Amino acid sequence: MLICVTGGAGYVGAHVVRLLQQAGLEVIVIDDLSYGDATRVGSAELVQLDLADTAELPRLQAALDGCTAVVHIAGRKQVGESVERPAWYYQQNVGGMANLLLAMQAQDVDRLVFSSSAAVYGQPSVGQVREDLDLKPINPYGESKLIGEWLVRDAARAWGLRGVNLRYFNVAGAGWEELGDPAVLNLIPMVLEKLSEGRPPAVFGGDYPTADGTCVRDYIHVIDIATAHMIALDYLDRDQRPFDSFNVGTGAGASVRQVIEMIGEVTGLDTTPAVKPRRPGDPAVLIGAVDRIEQTFEWKAQHDLRSIIDSSWRAWQAGPRRIASGAGR
Ligand code: WQD
Repeated sequence: MLICVTGGAGYVGAHVVRLLQQAGLEVIVIDDLSYGDATRVGSAELVQLDLADTAELPRLQAALDGCTAVVHIAGRKQVGESVERPAWYYQQNVGGMANLLLAMQAQDVDRLVFSSSAAVYGQPSVGQVREDLDLKPINPYGESKLIGEWLVRDAARAWGLRGVNLRYFNVAGAGWEELGDPAVLNLIPMVLEKLSEGRPPAVFGGDYPTADGTCVRDYIHVIDIATAHMIALDYLDRDQRPFDSFNVGTGAGASVRQVIEMIGEVTGLDTTPAVKPRRPGDPAVLIGAVDRIEQTFEWKAQHDLRSIIDSSWRAWQAGPRRIASGAGR
């Protein structure tokens, strides 16, 4: 069975590719390598192309020839960048999905797992967000992910695509030391980067209406995210539901301060933070209700926050920005 993984040379994608390969499945990766690293895909065939480039449709269609399913992870995912470059985010994320669906229909590839995001919820005022909550994204990134979900739904209605949208909460950690998150765009790598520079971690806002005044998020291990994709592929083969969306999180929250303190425990470094002004657009609390994925997939995330931070630290120390023991502040 041949599975196509778009964005398979990236952080989450490389973990999905490796689990598919370990399961004995043949994988073809489509990636523009703007962020991905070709060495991360192992023995998988790699087709380098920009999904959003309509001129590439013939090559995209050819790459899908013989595929039984697509895991679509390729996309732009920086909230701040999306606010600065909204049209480009729509072109990349919505245009890329549209081209992918055109190519899939042309090749009769009718199974799709889509990497969506909790960003589709925007700034909810509830403790745990459920999938049927009103979807009110507050930035072009979240909007582009929501439109991607609509495109999956509309393809299911129009030509029988069987699609699943997986709404990632905060992905972190590393399933293998060499597959750590190469970007420093999220809390844990941003804290490790500060520590590697001998500087205090930054807390963006200490006056939120939470127990310790800092934002609370649902951190999920990247291996759990990748495993959810594997189960979603089975679901598409097993269940007659043509289309559905699931939160992929742990259902538990951790505050910025709790994460930073645990990084200190794991690394032995002084992680006393510097509290900075709030970052625009941050909801105080964003935790995913996960009962639907647990009941439908008969699965739940297996890794806790310490496992996430342990693996992040090991991957960081295996990389180019290793922090010498006894270094730091
Ligand atoms: C988490 C919390 C920051 C760095 C984003 C995307 C979301 C998803 C996950 C793709 C926030 C605070 C951070 C730092 C801090 N991406 N923080 N100091 O913003 O919850 O979600 O990544 O799907 O769509 O929006 O993640 O890791 O950027 O921030 O205090 O040095 O940590 O303010 O409260 P976020 P994050």
